[in-house]
Amino acid sequence: MPRRVLVTAALPYANGSPHLGHLLEYIQTDVHVRARRLAGEDVIFMWAVDTHGTPIELRARREGIDPAELVTRMHAEHEQVYRDFGIEPDIFYTTHSDETRKHAEFIYEKMQAAGQIEKRSTRQLYCPKDQMFLPDRFVKGTCPYCSSADQYGDVCEKCGHTYNPTELKEPHCAICGTTPELRDSEHLFVSLGRFEGFLREWLNATKLQPAVRNYVMRWVDDGLRDWDISRDAPYFGFSIPGYEGKKFFYVWFDAPVGYIGATQKWCDEHPERAAFASYWHADQSQDTEIVHVIGKDIVYFHTLFWPAMLHAAGYTTPTRINVHGWLTVNGEKMSKARGTFILARTYLDHLPADYLRYYFAAKLGPEQDDINLDMADFRARVNADLVDKAANVASRCHKFIVGRLEGKLGPIPDDALPLIERARERLAQVPGLFAEFESAKALRLAIEIAEEFNGYITVQEPWKVIAKDPERARAVCTAGMWASKVIAAILKPVLPKWAAVMEEGLQLPAPLDFVNAIEPLPEGLVMGAYVTLAERIDPKTLEAIIEASKETMGGAAPAAPETPAYTVEPLAAESSIEAFSPVDLRVGKVLAAARVKGSDKLLQLTIDLGPLGQRNIFSGIAPSYAPEQMVGKHVVVFANLKPRKMRFGVSEGMVLASGAKDDAITVLELDPRSLPGEKIS
Ligand code: 2FM
Ligand code: ZN
Repeated sequence: MPRRVLVTAALPYANGSPHLGHLLEYIQTDVHVRARRLAGEDVIFMWAVDTHGTPIELRARREGIDPAELVTRMHAEHEQVYRDFGIEPDIFYTTHSDETRKHAEFIYEKMQAAGQIEKRSTRQLYCPKDQMFLPDRFVKGTCPYCSSADQYGDVCEKCGHTYNPTELKEPHCAICGTTPELRDSEHLFVSLGRFEGFLREWLNATKLQPAVRNYVMRWVDDGLRDWDISRDAPYFGFSIPGYEGKKFFYVWFDAPVGYIGATQKWCDEHPERAAFASYWHADQSQDTEIVHVIGKDIVYFHTLFWPAMLHAAGYTTPTRINVHGWLTVNGEKMSKARGTFILARTYLDHLPADYLRYYFAAKLGPEQDDINLDMADFRARVNADLVDKAANVASRCHKFIVGRLEGKLGPIPDDALPLIERARERLAQVPGLFAEFESAKALRLAIEIAEEFNGYITVQEPWKVIAKDPERARAVCTAGMWASKVIAAILKPVLPKWAAVMEEGLQLPAPLDFVNAIEPLPEGLVMGAYVTLAERIDPKTLEAIIEASKETMGGAAPAAPETPAYTVEPLAAESSIEAFSPVDLRVGKVLAAARVKGSDKLLQLTIDLGPLGQRNIFSGIAPSYAPEQMVGKHVVVFANLKPRKMRFGVSEGMVLASGAKDDAITVLELDPRSLPGEKIS
């Protein structure tokens, strides 16, 4: 029976727009899938948008819409961006689906029947201001183990320890900054300790990077903590059976089940391709591979909870988990202030997806090192590798044959045979490298082939030889065309369009793959005009991306609440010349307004800037406006002010108002029909 391979990337959270950090993983996954298919493997890429949890619930509330509506909108946005990036899952479904719900309930019921779930009254952090229990990521404070400040309620990013939110020192609500209270609530826990034996075995049998195995084993050695899988209403998610409308599955319980839900949906729609059971209810003889590609931050979920859930309910457990590092831009964490928090869409507005696909794939290996997108290096790398080397072989030979030799191919000359042999040897290594997530090494081989053949052509000087021996010139350039075909095959998982141009230009009888790439080209074949494969990146384009990313600040709602890097002073302190130049005035619609504890001047406003996203703005208008008076107003927002952190939180812009005295402030109001985000000139 042929081996079946099911690959997933982490399911993007529907709360925010995709940025280049997300793309790193999705490109890595897409390249892996395409490459394994080119090697003849039977691979499916199952994917979905991750939809549940508090961030979605809160954002939908702020926008005054149903969370399901928000999810539908975000799903469409994500789908389009990924398509434009050439990422082609077999399905891009949603975790908010019947399929996912049914499988999640099934797993829960199995675990319950086996006594693996315990009910316990727990003390939970409750924010009296937001009137809700605070899930892990909605509490920040100081790590109880290493005392690092500003850590989330579940895990310390500095020392890697996990803990309960209640263990955090100096906790505060990540939404509003209020110190939370402790309140009682009944919660459901998976007793993870019962799975210790299974998990040790699974961790040894599963393909993990050695460093990952080591630190996960350390977690197991430290003792497995019970896992709270329930959340109190209000929560956008699936009700827990028996607690309808009151308790919901924690988003991390059903998110990975989305992998299964997507597979269910896809198999139902493609009964001719495969049976669901051959993936998720496979026995060992079926030789099914399940590969999850994830980032460093979600290893815990994928290596402990997830296999335990699958094992408990009799599903196939993952056979491989590949963990990648973070994306940094210009050597630093992505920053909205520096314009390096680049949305996927902003990038696409300026450059073809393929250049970024190439750059990421050319840097990615199986390590979990961070990948740095250095803008100058990005340009140099694309220009050197793709334009000056890989495309150059094809461009010189193709143009020369078409321009001087009637477009006709000839035989391969004997003196090119050693190069051809080396190219074949390199190609032979390629499927294995891609399968091991060694895309950087695989692509390096393509570039080496290009370097050798470029050198050969330069030395053979067909443009001189043609005068005396046109057939020799034809043969030299034919060798170059053959090499271009092999190069295109190696690049194909990363640059499928490049390969398509070569397939058409060389009138190949079948789509290029890692096996047929070495076939000889038919002598006498007449090629049409050369089609450009790659063009130089202009440094101005990169500057424009950074500039545009500064403009979209606030447009990318983070998946989890993070301290926004972009902050502004409120009204009182903002009339510095610098702050007004150059001014970016936009229409903003006030979605929510609240008084600020400890200040009688400030109102906290949530303002919709349309395509620029939402802003949190502290405005000194409280003496003249009650919060409810502000909601619904269309106001003028200074949208590009400098970052500033305030005592009460962060402010991301300023609302235009006038008035000398505190009690006589007038907010400039716009026509309610004006569109949020529109520029005001
Ligand atoms: O970390 C995240 O953004 C999650 N949405 C990933 C979920 S992966 C899977 F488990 F669904
Ligand atoms: Zn710590």
